[in-house]
Amino acid sequence: MTRIAIVEGDGIGHEVIPVARRVLELLHPEFEYFDVDVGYGRWERTGCPCTDPDIAELKTADAILFGAVTTPPMKDYQSVVLRIRKALDLYANLRPVKNDRFDFMIVRENTEGLYSGIEEATPDRATTLRVVSRKGTERIVRKAIDLARQRNGLLTIGHKANVIKSDVFFRDICLAEAHMAGVPCNDKFIDALSLDLLQHPEKYSVVVTTNMFGDILSDVAAYLVGGLGLVPSANIGDRYALFEPVHGSAPDIAGKNIANPIAAVRSVSMLLDHLGDSAGAASVEASVRHVLRQGKCTRDMGGSTGTREFGEALVQALRQPE
Ligand code: NAD
Ligand code: IPM
Ligand code: MN
Repeated sequence: MTRIAIVEGDGIGHEVIPVARRVLELLHPEFEYFDVDVGYGRWERTGCPCTDPDIAELKTADAILFGAVTTPPMKDYQSVVLRIRKALDLYANLRPVKNDRFDFMIVRENTEGLYSGIEEATPDRATTLRVVSRKGTERIVRKAIDLARQRNGLLTIGHKANVIKSDVFFRDICLAEAHMAGVPCNDKFIDALSLDLLQHPEKYSVVVTTNMFGDILSDVAAYLVGGLGLVPSANIGDRYALFEPVHGSAPDIAGKNIANPIAAVRSVSMLLDHLGDSAGAASVEASVRHVLRQGKCTRDMGGSTGTREFGEALVQALRQPE
């Protein structure tokens, strides 16, 4: 029995995940679904955003469908999504950005870099240790190389080796691995890469980079496809996998039925691919295209279709495929 953990989280997670879940349940009524309540709302109610038993429960799932959690910039509050990524060792964060003109995948290292959590603050100085390990770099670049091979594409390494020693280390390991694998590869400084991706997205296939650069680059790249409401992601480790939109809990629009559910729905497509149902994954993508072609879209894309109504249209499209 395939078991799917559903985490709505906070804010628009409560709106986009029900749509995504319905799509998944429609295609796979035989799966077992169970909810895990973690996030800021849980913290407000109980004083704890996520417990060890929650993590243990998530580990029993074959895949996790995750919405978004609010992370208040408070001292001593640890982001739940970061905790889960670390606890489940979800080291590869895959963020596809594509349309009919270009198709690239941002491969973001997901467990170390500036998100190492090794930091301290005194009244006069705050420091964060940027950890780039050989093991961490080898495993993320190997994942990126696999993807580049599957796509028969170029691997681009995004870094800031002109300034940061830990990125000289990252770049050199990536270049050596790509060379050994015989995969075509180039590298670019992350600042120049950010602009070039926007100007010439068709030049790219797989972009591998460290944790925070990948975080920023993926929001930047979302611009190319119409914004954060459209970009899904997969967080993959050797044992566990979690699928979530790239966007956050969007408190500014939460509770208004205007959030775009496409990123969450496309995360279902990535989840199905991961579980080996590539036909299901393709039908989810096709249903999104179909509904958009009907002229239905949410406010962020210039339309007025509500989140729930977009979900209804997706369900109709999936029930009556072209
Ligand atoms: P955000 O991604 O939530 O929102 C940024 C902007 O994009 C907002 O104007 C929002 O309205 C818009 N937007 C985002 N998703 C949208 C959608 N589906 N449809 C339409 N518009 C959408 O980023 P933020 O505002 O910087 O962060 C809000 C909270 O979310 C913070 O607490 C942050 O820590 C958290 N966050 C969580 C995750 C996660 O759980 N993986 C990811 C990013 C941010
Ligand atoms: C993302 C988010 C998270 C990150 C935050 C909320 C911790 O921005 O998933 O992109 O930085 O990874
Ligand atoms: Mn982000």
